[in-house]
Amino acid sequence: MFTTRFLDLPPLQRAAGTVRLPGSKSISNRVLLLAGLCAGSTRIDALLASDDTRVMLDALRALGCGVEHDGDTVRIDGIGGVLRARDSDIFLGNSGTSTRSVTAALALLASAQGGRFAIRGVPRMHERPIGDLVDALRPLGCVIDYTGVAGFPPLRLGDGAPHALSLAEPIRVRGDVSSQFLTGLLQALCAASADHEIVIEVVGELISKPYIAITLNLLARFGVVVRNERWARFTIPAGSRLVSPGAIQVEGDASSASYFVALGAIAAEHGAPLRVEGMGSGSIQGDLAFVGAAQAMGANVLLGEHWVEVSRGSWPLKAITLDCNHIPDAAMTLAVMALFATGTTRLTNIASWRVKETDRIAAMAAELRKLGAVVTEGADFIEVNAPAAWRAATIRTYDDHRIAMCFSLAALNDAALPVRILDPQCVAKTFPDYFETLFGVVGARPNAVPIITVDGPTASGKGTLASAVAQRLGYHFLDSGAVYRATALAAMRSGTRTDDEQRLAQLATNLDLHFGPGEIRLSGQDVTETLRLEEVGALASKVSAFPLVRAALRTLQLSFHRLPGLVADGRDMGTVIFPGADLKIYLTASAATRAERRYKQLISKGISANIDSLRAELELRDARDQTRAVSPLRPAADAMLLDNSAFSVDASVDAVLTAWEQRRPFKAT
Ligand code: DC
Repeated sequence: MFTTRFLDLPPLQRAAGTVRLPGSKSISNRVLLLAGLCAGSTRIDALLASDDTRVMLDALRALGCGVEHDGDTVRIDGIGGVLRARDSDIFLGNSGTSTRSVTAALALLASAQGGRFAIRGVPRMHERPIGDLVDALRPLGCVIDYTGVAGFPPLRLGDGAPHALSLAEPIRVRGDVSSQFLTGLLQALCAASADHEIVIEVVGELISKPYIAITLNLLARFGVVVRNERWARFTIPAGSRLVSPGAIQVEGDASSASYFVALGAIAAEHGAPLRVEGMGSGSIQGDLAFVGAAQAMGANVLLGEHWVEVSRGSWPLKAITLDCNHIPDAAMTLAVMALFATGTTRLTNIASWRVKETDRIAAMAAELRKLGAVVTEGADFIEVNAPAAWRAATIRTYDDHRIAMCFSLAALNDAALPVRILDPQCVAKTFPDYFETLFGVVGARPNAVPIITVDGPTASGKGTLASAVAQRLGYHFLDSGAVYRATALAAMRSGTRTDDEQRLAQLATNLDLHFGPGEIRLSGQDVTETLRLEEVGALASKVSAFPLVRAALRTLQLSFHRLPGLVADGRDMGTVIFPGADLKIYLTASAATRAERRYKQLISKGISANIDSLRAELELRDARDQTRAVSPLRPAADAMLLDNSAFSVDASVDAVLTAWEQRRPFKAT
């Protein structure tokens, strides 16, 4: 997952390959709650692992449910409608489904059985309405107090004493602000185990009906078949009980699929469609209808039961006018597709956007305009016209996962401009690996994927600097010295003569070397520490002087040049391996400073050392690296020289990031 302050997406071009979708958020959270409330144990396969499901799992634990993880399978031991914990403080982050559903269920259970629970979330959750749900629950005898602002979380449910509930009269709930209120009530009342029918009547036109369809479908899987009369009146049969289905499989998330369906429509060639696996015609999610909307805009689609293949059909895309009430989340993706369409795209009946993770109508309008689009917004609609001239934009994401994901598609612009996404980690709400998945199926012109090189002599601190810069930008990191060190280590271990250039080059070609997070493996063995040994470094300096060895290691080093970018450190990164790099740093420090740093490093590891001999050794190594015939150590002509003798690591990192920022097209926000 990208945890950087921002992520720069280089201009993207082609899409091809296969995406496996993460589990559906809507299904995951409903199944979790139903499994927690029902009698029996439920195995849930392919559960979504994200912020929203994590808070729901925490809530279930707080209720006393058993929760066991095994990969992306979770086993829930349900409470069978009887509270095992009576008092708890439950934090539900910014998860609307969790907050509304847990509130409904716990308000009934706590009031009937004498519990007392606090419900709270992040500040934005405390601005998202819940009054209609509370107003529906109070007449039943539920004890609910607002502990912040009336109409919004945080809430206190129950007062510790049991109360008689009256469920005999029809229960009325508004359906025109959020369908999650009705979902919450349906789930909670099916768990109430009443011996008479329970009727729920919807006041106002029910929005987002497909989400209610998911709720009804899953309730049926847990043994309760609710009668649905024209989406206005729902009847739970007398004597209904939630019973575990034993095992349940979560299908892929159809809203998450929308980004890849759009990507295929914008950038996949006709003969090589983008394949999205995990949802298809067999899906119970309403956002499946997004596929039809994408087709109307020009996408070429083939729909299987559990997959969809998409490529460019009409190009540019065609503007559409669409009532998006049934696909409020995926409709945001249509607004971004409109950037690639001729004409005015008009998305209507989307008032619910205003009470989601952020005011999505205002947010989409503001960010689309930054890209150059002409946008009109109304209380419940948005109109988008493609930019006459694209602009490089810094996209604010408002802690809203969907804004981050849909705006990533703007990087496919034909003006070859990058797009900066602020706070990219907000995708963790529903799709923690979104950007990695995207980078797995898109291409970019090689010179569009940025490279920063950091070259310099031994112990100049270039490794520390380069890896810190890579981390701050979310880029890949190449420690090219480790590649030579690994060759040296392989030579030591195999007893290869250090003057046998042919054999050394062969070793280098066949190196079984893997770089993982914080770990380097050679022939399956963790050699991270061993590679840092002085004798390995000294031998690396010798073997690296052989042209055949250098040539053999070239392809491996080039393979690090991948989306979204690379920071590479070594001796010849800016001169030989990546001569076209976008920013080249030549890092030095005085020999005395470097000897002292190396000395402290060794001492801290409990290795005894002598500072004078260390200095002599590194001067010798400098001389060898600088005078060898191939790729000698020297600054590239266009390198920025940075002497960090008197700098802290942070100051050096800031200097490089400032230099980098000056080369980017983004204005400060
Ligand atoms: O940066 P380092 O100390 O880990 O590098 C070990 C040796 O590898 C160094 O003395 C020279 C060689 N090297 C090289 O020739 N070219 C590079 N790009 C990186 C390292």
